[in-house]
Amino acid sequence: MTSVQDAILQRSSTSKYQPDYVIEPETLAQLVHLAAHSPSAYNLQNWRFIAVTAPEAKSLLREAAYGQPQVEAASATFIVCGQLAAHKALEQRLGESVSAGIIPQSIADSWVKAASQSHEGNAQLQRDEAIRSASLAAMSLMLAAEELGLATGAMGGFDGEQLKRHFPLNEEDLPVMLITIGKAAEGNWAQKARRPLDEILTLI
Ligand SMILES: Cc1cc2nc3c(=O)[nH]c(=O)nc-3n(C[C@H](O)[C@H](O)[C@H](O)COP(=O)(O)O)c2cc1C
Repeated sequence: MTSVQDAILQRSSTSKYQPDYVIEPETLAQLVHLAAHSPSAYNLQNWRFIAVTAPEAKSLLREAAYGQPQVEAASATFIVCGQLAAHKALEQRLGESVSAGIIPQSIADSWVKAASQSHEGNAQLQRDEAIRSASLAAMSLMLAAEELGLATGAMGGFDGEQLKRHFPLNEEDLPVMLITIGKAAEGNWAQKARRPLDEILTLI
C-alpha cells in the first residue's frame, strides 16, 4: 500500500497516457467518494465532479481545454466544480451529522446562521470558498488515484464558458480544475524540483 507520504512524493503531473486503458465507472465513483471526505468550511461540501469518458465528450472537453491532448488520451477527465451559494443547502447537509450524534443541533444552527450571514450576497466569499473546497477535494482525489497506481494531472488551462456550453454545469457550478486520470505512458517527467523549505516556511 502506498503511504500518503509516498503518494505525495511520487506523484507527478502526467500529460502522456495509455489511450486504451479503461478505468471502470466504479473506480471513478470510489475516487469521488474519497475526495468528498475532504474538509470544507462548515462542512459545506460545496463541490461537484463530472467524469468525462465518452469519446465525443472528451473531444469537446479538449477543445475547451485549448486543445491540450491529454484530455483525449487520459481514461477520464474530471471537471471539478466548486459550488456557489452552498450555504442555502447547509441546514440539510449538517442534518445527517446531527442525527448521527456527531455535532449537536445547537452547533448546526449556529453554523447555518453564520454561513448565511457571511455568504448571502457575498459573491467574492462564495467564489473563494468554492475554489478552496474544490481544490482540497481535487488533491484528495489525486492522492487516492496515486494509491491505486493511477496517474493524474491537474489543469487550469480551460475556457469556463465553453465548458458551461457543452457540459451539464448549472449557474451554481464554478469549474475550478480539470483532473486527467489514467495509466501513465512512457515519456512523462518525474515530479519537478520544489523550492527549499527555508523560502516557504516561517516558524514563529
Ligand atoms: C491549478 C493548476 C493548473 C494547471 N494547469 C495545467 C494545464 O492547463 N496544463 C498542463 O499541462 N499542466 C497544468 N498544470 C500542471 C503544472 O504544470 C504542474 O503541476 C507543475 O509543473 C508541477 O509539476 P509536478 O507536480 O509534476 O512536479 C496545472 C497544475 C495546477 C496545480
